[in-house]
Amino acid sequence: METMQLRGKWVLLTGASSGLGEAMAVHLARDHGAHLVLVARREDRLRALASSLTEAHGVETAVVVADLTSEADVQRVFDEAVDGRPIHAAILNAGVSFFGHHDELDWPAFQRMLALNVSSVVQLTTLLLPYLEQRAERGGLMIVSSLAGLTPVAYQSAYSGTKAFLVHYGCGLHHEMARRGVSVTVFAPGGIDTEMTQGNRFDDLRGWLMPADQCARSAVDGLRKRRYVQVPGLMYRWGNVLTRLLPQSFFVGRVAAQYRRSLAKAAGPDAG
Ligand SMILES: NC(=O)c1ccc[n+]([C@@H]2O[C@H](COP(=O)([O-])OP(=O)(O)OC[C@H]3O[C@@H](n4cnc5c(N)ncnc54)[C@H](OP(=O)(O)O)[C@@H]3O)[C@@H](O)[C@H]2O)c1
Repeated sequence: METMQLRGKWVLLTGASSGLGEAMAVHLARDHGAHLVLVARREDRLRALASSLTEAHGVETAVVVADLTSEADVQRVFDEAVDGRPIHAAILNAGVSFFGHHDELDWPAFQRMLALNVSSVVQLTTLLLPYLEQRAERGGLMIVSSLAGLTPVAYQSAYSGTKAFLVHYGCGLHHEMARRGVSVTVFAPGGIDTEMTQGNRFDDLRGWLMPADQCARSAVDGLRKRRYVQVPGLMYRWGNVLTRLLPQSFFVGRVAAQYRRSLAKAAGPDAG
């Protein structure tokens, strides 16, 4: 399949109000001239981003305010996005994490994580793929997973599980859809400096975090080149290769020890 040209094409982007999503929106508008449908819950941030992109780069934008943990909202996002707009590509980026001991994550919070990170992605993908397939000019879809989806990560165990689902789902779909002219790419970044990694629990790990704009550039490159799995940054690409060469339990244990230290420091000297 040919590299995707995005100039003047519409791209649907979830989780556009901050972090990686916001950085991808800027990159898509500034460097590729893409028109954007921006999705998230924080309307003020989406509207400010939309008008700044239109003003600075002359692209068209639309905002859909939605809580993607709601099935009805996910359906509405699709319906509003395609209403009068030929969507050429989509990036399913919205996600939440939890970093801490597994028993701190309560059941309602886990259900929300599952609904957003897994169910909303499957629901939107199921709506988008037949839509993209019936268009004359075949576009593509990118699912934002994580390195934590390629290798288990302790203290992010539930999150890591949701992201592993996305790797298997997206990689399977890549092969199903390649024969039908629509690309499916899994994006698997390591740590990124965003709202998700704010807070003192990440203080000890901050040196590993990639700037969001650098990560966004790699994500859009992976989408355009219709890659199977895109891992941004040389350090994380090598790390990913290394995890396949070493016994998995050894590698996961080393990362767990580092995360445990970071959590203990954040809890302070008096914590049990
Ligand atoms: N940061 C990292 O270290 C890292 C590493 C690997 C992968 N990732 C993945 O990258 C993606 C983007 O994360 P980020 O780091 O950019 O974090 P972020 O700054 O917290 O952004 C998360 C985005 O998801 C949206 N969102 C959250 N809950 C939502 C809901 N219920 N309905 C609709 N939108 C919702 C947020 O917007 P609203 O709050 O306005 O709704 C926001 O735009 C996620 O899938 C994450 O798992 C992040």
